[in-house]
Amino acid sequence: MRYFFTLLFFLGLLQANDAVHTFAKSEDCKSCHTQIYDEFYGSMHANSTPQKDPIHNAIWAQHPKNLKQEQYACGKCHTPAADNLDKMMTNAQKAMPDAKNETHQAGISCAYCHRIKSIELHKEHNTNIMTTTEKNYFGTLKEGIESPYHGIVSEGNEHMKNGNVCIGCHSHRMNKHGLNVCSTNIDNEMDGANCVSCHMPKIDGSVSALNDTKVHAFHGFAGAHFHSEMLTKHVDISLLRNIGNFIINIDNRTSHALLLHPLRLGVLKVSVKRGEKTTQLKDEIFVRVLGKDSKPAMPWIADTTLKDTMIQANEKRSVQYDFKLQQGDKVDVVLGWFLVNPKALQSLNLENESVATKFHEFKKESFTF
Ligand code: HEC
Ligand code: HEC
Ligand code: HEC
Ligand code: HEC
Ligand code: HEC
Repeated sequence: MRYFFTLLFFLGLLQANDAVHTFAKSEDCKSCHTQIYDEFYGSMHANSTPQKDPIHNAIWAQHPKNLKQEQYACGKCHTPAADNLDKMMTNAQKAMPDAKNETHQAGISCAYCHRIKSIELHKEHNTNIMTTTEKNYFGTLKEGIESPYHGIVSEGNEHMKNGNVCIGCHSHRMNKHGLNVCSTNIDNEMDGANCVSCHMPKIDGSVSALNDTKVHAFHGFAGAHFHSEMLTKHVDISLLRNIGNFIINIDNRTSHALLLHPLRLGVLKVSVKRGEKTTQLKDEIFVRVLGKDSKPAMPWIADTTLKDTMIQANEKRSVQYDFKLQQGDKVDVVLGWFLVNPKALQSLNLENESVATKFHEFKKESFTF
């Protein structure tokens, strides 16, 4: 039964990826959509490949399908504009990501995202269904708007606005042991906010060089690597002082867990300044550890979650510090993360990659008494 199920899935996967599409290069959009292009160029979507993302590369380096040079199934989400995506997705075709192939290095390109027509839901991971017309893009601007370079589809474009366009790749990823290794809440809305409104907020600057508009949707995709300052307003930090202790409350008003990828390690750092003296209190850690046989394991080996202290969607987490505050004390609170859990750095050969080793400050707050 299980075999039958897996086979069905496999067929489903092949079918959904049978067509290889040709996508316009993102550079082609630069002359008119200059600001959007510049934002995109620095984002993780433009840098999602093993050659451009050292963290992706480090995990991929240890993957059995890479060691045997068999298949790069990651391409479905990490290099979806590849000109041989079908082969990449097929076992034993040996179609590996190639530094010299432009379509492999395009990442989640402009034209790719703007040609997602609908999303097919699957148990393992979802699939994007693409349009077959090359230069015709889904958008959300007012109807009847035109471009001299490409067509604009303004019908059936709700998915661009409500965030469904993101869930083809972001909703979940199940490994072959049935463990969901990376999951964003598929119920992608919260208080009227969704993936697009939170991660692509409207900011100053024109949509294109041809018409002067005041704002455009931010295409730098604020997240754990870049521009997290744009998201701090969705997480509140407050302090409650008691007689013998105090409590830090973290209110995650987000529709998903604070950090999503299982490599991450969130940290709450708290210190108390009294006069000239600063006392550093114990760090509080937020993490989701995947494992097998009671030991941490790579996502393709893991069959269970060993530990999950990550702050969940819409959760208010309280952390108690047994420290008696006095008048004049100043409490400094920093919430942040390491993109790669420091315990995993060595085994991933990432000790010298600053992107993996650096502590990323997300939100700071100070309280004086
Ligand atoms: C179903 C889509 C999908 C597939 C298939 C997929 N990924 Fe990902 N991957 C994502 C998404 C979405 C993110 C961003 C998640 C986040 O930031 O929380 C991501 C992030 C990552 C990261 C973190 C990168 C960083 O810079 O922090 C690593 C590492 C990674 N993937 C490795 C892989 C490997 C290796 C494969 C193939 C064996 C793979 N992924 C297959 C969707 C996918
Ligand atoms: C010759 C100039 C030009 C080039 C090149 C160009 N565009 Fe546009 N595009 C426009 C204009 C003009 C509009 C209409 C919006 C406006 O008034 O600025 C537009 C609008 C759009 C929209 C918004 C549609 C909507 O309703 O929200 C999308 C999406 C889009 N372009 C994608 C792209 C992509 C992807 C590329 C590159 C593959 C590209 N464009 C290249 C001129 C251009
Ligand atoms: C074709 C698959 C795909 C689609 C569609 C997609 N993403 Fe991603 N996204 C990824 C992958 C893969 C990564 C991780 C890249 C890496 O770290 O190497 C990522 C990373 C991110 C990040 C993390 C950025 C950071 O700085 O850490 C955010 C935020 C994000 N995506 C938001 C979105 C939003 C919002 C949408 C919908 C508008 C979307 N994505 C659509 C595949 C996709
Ligand atoms: C991960 C998916 C994704 C990628 C990659 C992406 N876009 Fe978009 N784009 C969107 C979404 C979603 C919207 C709708 C935003 C909204 O309605 O707030 C949008 C909106 C637009 C608009 C309409 C203007 C606006 O401000 O709403 C233009 C033009 C556009 N994109 C061009 C581009 C170009 C050019 C690139 C590459 C440089 C690109 N997009 C890459 C998802 C993407
Ligand atoms: C209410 C606002 C909000 C909504 C809605 C929202 N996010 Fe987030 N997202 C956040 C915040 C806050 C963070 C954590 C701060 C950061 O990573 O910069 C975050 C982080 C992320 C990250 C990085 C996590 C990591 O571990 O690398 C990804 C990827 C992401 N969101 C994708 C999505 C997708 C896809 C959707 C829709 C299904 C979505 N988000 C909906 C606010 C939101």
